[in-house]
Amino acid sequence: MKTVRIRDPHPPIRRAGRFVEVLDQLALPHRVVYRRCGSSEEMAGLIRRMVLRGAPLIGVAAAYGYALAAKRSSSPKTLEKAAERLLASRPTAVNLSWGIDRMRATASAHRGPRLFERLMAEADRIRAEDVAVNTRLAAHGAKLLKKNSTVITHCNAGFLATAGVGTAVGVVRYAFREGKIRNVYADETRPYLQGSRLTMWELMGDKIPCALLTDSMAAHIMKTERIDAVLVGADRIAANADAANKIGTYGLALAARAHRVPFYVVAPSSTFDLTIPDGDSIPIEERDPGEVLTLAGRSIAPKGARARHPAFDVTPARLITAIVTEKGVIRPPSASRVRAVLGKPR
Ligand code: MRU
Repeated sequence: MKTVRIRDPHPPIRRAGRFVEVLDQLALPHRVVYRRCGSSEEMAGLIRRMVLRGAPLIGVAAAYGYALAAKRSSSPKTLEKAAERLLASRPTAVNLSWGIDRMRATASAHRGPRLFERLMAEADRIRAEDVAVNTRLAAHGAKLLKKNSTVITHCNAGFLATAGVGTAVGVVRYAFREGKIRNVYADETRPYLQGSRLTMWELMGDKIPCALLTDSMAAHIMKTERIDAVLVGADRIAANADAANKIGTYGLALAARAHRVPFYVVAPSSTFDLTIPDGDSIPIEERDPGEVLTLAGRSIAPKGARARHPAFDVTPARLITAIVTEKGVIRPPSASRVRAVLGKPR
């Protein structure tokens, strides 16, 4: 398939010799700051604190985190401890364990001298592959959109959530170049505001017409305006095509079904977990309720208020029109179509 290169203004993760530099997504959109990371402990902390986030990017970052552990010692025990620490940093995105498994395989194939350099080179490869994969899935996804489309997206599935290009927002970027995008609505995505802080920043940087919605506005907008598609990313997709993504995605899918708006999930094959039968088996990260009880560092509820904070939800396959992957479009999403399109998981 012929694809067009999309350039990102700032790489979300980059190599700096024997270190890795990570774009601090908590500082965006106000400041562009890179954090230097030199150990697996630091990388696990950056992932846990959401300094970098997004399923494919977490996978790449975990790969670098694993490699950094070998800077100090190449003993299998040290590497396994680093792997466990990284795996525990965030539980929902399967890309994290996918990245770690690839690094474990590289480590066991190359025991001996220069293991650190070999592991860093493998992490570099994983990063470059992610950009290539996203370029392919953006091209596949753009074909699903017609001229002058208005679309809604949720959270941030742009270049900041990946090693580059993006998934759902990658499709938007690709389609925009083909004259297919009239307007994009970005849900703000409480409590981390990935939609308002990150997706709006990306879209405005690309000069793509866009407007911000609070999370509760999408159904009204679908009812009162023409919306051509909803495009979202995913953190883990089960064998039957149920898809976990940022909290609020399920509600968006229900609204899309009620208004007959096509609902597309855009994700690389590394986001599929074919070891689990359906979405009920996907671990849902529960974060600190304090993140819900505050906004921009200020309390927004009475002192002593309780809150819940599931960070993800699962959209059942029956609400998904199609899943766009780098290997092709899974339509309708079902266990047999998943197997047919993915073949052997990468
Ligand atoms: O908590 P986050 O910001 O890591 O959640 C991110 C999402 O839910 C994205 O939609 C998903 O990771 C896909 S990103 C290409």
